[in-house]
Amino acid sequence: MAKETEVLIVVGDVQDRDTLNRILETSYKISVSDNSRQVLELAYKDTLDVVILDLSFNDIQPIETLKAIKHHDPYIEIVIISGENNADTTLKDFLCGVTGYIPKPFRLSNIISVTMAAAEKRNLNLQLKDIFCELMQVNSEIADEAAADPAQEKQLLLKLARIISEHFMQEPHLQTKKYKDYLEFAKVLSLTLESKDPYTYGHSERVSFYSLLIAESLKLMAAEKEEIQLAAYLHDIGKLGINSSTILKKKRLNSRDWEIIKQHPEKGVDLIKPLNNIENIKAYILHHHERFAGNGYPYGLAGESIPLGGRIIAIADSYDAITSDRPYRNKTMTHVEAQQELKRCAGTQFDPLLVEVFLKTLKKNDGLNHSEIAGVTKKTN
Ligand SMILES: [Fe+2]
Ligand SMILES: [Fe+2]
Repeated sequence: MAKETEVLIVVGDVQDRDTLNRILETSYKISVSDNSRQVLELAYKDTLDVVILDLSFNDIQPIETLKAIKHHDPYIEIVIISGENNADTTLKDFLCGVTGYIPKPFRLSNIISVTMAAAEKRNLNLQLKDIFCELMQVNSEIADEAAADPAQEKQLLLKLARIISEHFMQEPHLQTKKYKDYLEFAKVLSLTLESKDPYTYGHSERVSFYSLLIAESLKLMAAEKEEIQLAAYLHDIGKLGINSSTILKKKRLNSRDWEIIKQHPEKGVDLIKPLNNIENIKAYILHHHERFAGNGYPYGLAGESIPLGGRIIAIADSYDAITSDRPYRNKTMTHVEAQQELKRCAGTQFDPLLVEVFLKTLKKNDGLNHSEIAGVTKKTN
């Protein structure tokens, strides 16, 4: 029998707490709490699915509590109760991975639909997590055996592609092939992959965030922005098929290592080949290492023949990489140095107009805490 969904209500006002409890207890197992220690204790029991948190509740520090919960289990869904919804709150909530809002004054339909959406999201994410554990298992087989036998590597990659496609076919949520479902798929996949590697932990989420900043500044259509965001999450998925000893190598990479790493855009597209209607996303993944001057890979495309999403992700990807610790690099650049570096490479590595847009956007978002984008704190060694 499936586990009953557990919802924790952390609300200061007794009347509000009772209202939520009364409405939700018919569908969920409810706990209530009024202090942060108790919230974390409940979260650490590993049975919690959804937390409903009142931001105006003075007895706890909401942002710190959210971060601690997400750090313990990134798949716990957070719903915020808030009378206000200004830009500042939205940004802070985005940084902490909030799933939805229940505005005040309460409306019955709102409480039910937002909580249900959070519970469904949690459920879907856990299913996806299981799929990816299976993927990681195959990935470690690749790491063990691929270097010795290219035919074996191909077999295992085919197996990976089959796992992805089969689950997409069977999973009713994903059959609809809606953007939101794909996004969940992409987020869980990137988090699962990166959890194995302290150097890239949170990389895809930050690349997606920076890419979206550029896409929004360009005032692209909603569908284009969604495709770019998704491709940014998945841009390095092809590294699944690469021996982790190469990816985690502490010494400077030699030409053979680079040759292997350079295969990841094509391997990434191979893995999601069975998925339909995402041709643009596949193109953005394939071309995220092309250079504006034409000397990138895999195809050496130049200028605007590189798909727009590929050009955007290239900037976001490099910006995050050069401001992050990497095993083969001695020094991490500051954000100011990284912006200088983007300027220096505008026109050769990057589309100069897009670099200009990105730098302007960063300037506008000056208060942004880069190390905590989307609740993913960069790990340092
Ligand atoms: Fe890449
Ligand atoms: Fe990357």
